[in-house]
Amino acid sequence: MDAGLKLLNAESLRADFPILRRKINGKPLIYLDNAATTQKPRQVIGAVRDYYENYNANVHRGIHRLSEEATDAYEAAHVKAAKFIGADFKEVIFTKNTTESINLLAYSLGLQLRKDDEILLSEMEHHSNLVPWQQIAKKVGAKVMYAKVSADGLIDMDDFSASISSRTRIISIAHVSNVLGTINPVREMAKIAHDNGSLFVVDAAQSVPHMPVDVRQIGCDFLAFSSHKMLGPTGIGVLYGRSELLDSMQPFIYGGDMIREVTFGDTRFNELPWKFEAGTPNISGAIGFGAAIDYLKNIGMESVFSHEQRLSRYASDRLLSEPEIKVYGPKERAGIVSFNMGSIHAHDVAAILDQEGIAIRGGHHCAMPLMSKLGISGSARASFYLYNTKDEVDSLVSSLGRVRKVFGGKG
Ligand SMILES: Cc1ncc(COP(=O)(O)O)c(C=O)c1O
Repeated sequence: MDAGLKLLNAESLRADFPILRRKINGKPLIYLDNAATTQKPRQVIGAVRDYYENYNANVHRGIHRLSEEATDAYEAAHVKAAKFIGADFKEVIFTKNTTESINLLAYSLGLQLRKDDEILLSEMEHHSNLVPWQQIAKKVGAKVMYAKVSADGLIDMDDFSASISSRTRIISIAHVSNVLGTINPVREMAKIAHDNGSLFVVDAAQSVPHMPVDVRQIGCDFLAFSSHKMLGPTGIGVLYGRSELLDSMQPFIYGGDMIREVTFGDTRFNELPWKFEAGTPNISGAIGFGAAIDYLKNIGMESVFSHEQRLSRYASDRLLSEPEIKVYGPKERAGIVSFNMGSIHAHDVAAILDQEGIAIRGGHHCAMPLMSKLGISGSARASFYLYNTKDEVDSLVSSLGRVRKVFGGKG
């Protein structure tokens, strides 16, 4: 471990999260579904409330005090989001979430593709980074290729390179798999993509919330993530794009706020990033998102990452020491541990754990192609964040005993 690394104190941070005081079935809530969405600290809830109670107004419109205050706070959230990933202000577009960010790209870039052009994804992609490309490819006659995932849950880099051809225009890959916890070598992939003249997109929904991410270090062209997975409100996310690329791209949604001048015949678009933010944006969401970024920066992303890695290592070691438990994915992973217990269905595992106050996810995790590759219909998934503790992992593992009891010999 880095000697200068500040250890995170999950126990004391928990006091900032009102929901963690809840009881479920009379038992303390153990929230291990952070890959789906995260809980919100009072600093985020307070920032949203403050906006509605004290300066609620539309942005970029009224020349009055409230509107100026709302606009300042909205733009400050853009600055925070851009700095958080090492980007410039004009390179960060607020969208609804990762899904909308990728759809923006699919429509804006994908529709420019020609017949037989290729888009390269991997077999471990979330539906959000698969369905938009697949559907746009169908419209234009392009092909979607998938780099293989090896038995140990890594993208096979030989297959990745071999899948790239002179027709590969776009490569879009998850930084961290939401099922396997695999951390993909996106920097190396960006270089391979660029050597081939392809654009490189990173689905960072499971990385930006959990580890330091710098778009210049990765060298990607685009990167997408969601506020709700990093302590912020739902309904707000980011699309980062290199400014020269965004400048040359057509907007995905048209309307107010994204224009400079409109005549009956034509429209000149606004400057970046507003060109891509048509209509009244999610102002309260952006302000809450800004507060979430402040909160995370204050703790330090290195500390968040190291805390989660320790938890996931501990969880997988403990799970693997139990009979008949299979854990999916590589040994070195982010804070996500997917597993199955013998032939017990993942939904049944999740349902019994819920009775114990433990929230995990059971199912295909919006990655059905990966599930079919793994030869399973679903898995149970525990995913960690900065407020989770080793004691909670112990409770998870001991509650699996109850699952085994209920489902008899199946586990
Ligand atoms: C890897 C990955 N990509 C994309 C998404 C989609 O995120 P959102 O639902 O916020 O658009 C998720 C959500 O779980 C994810 O895990």
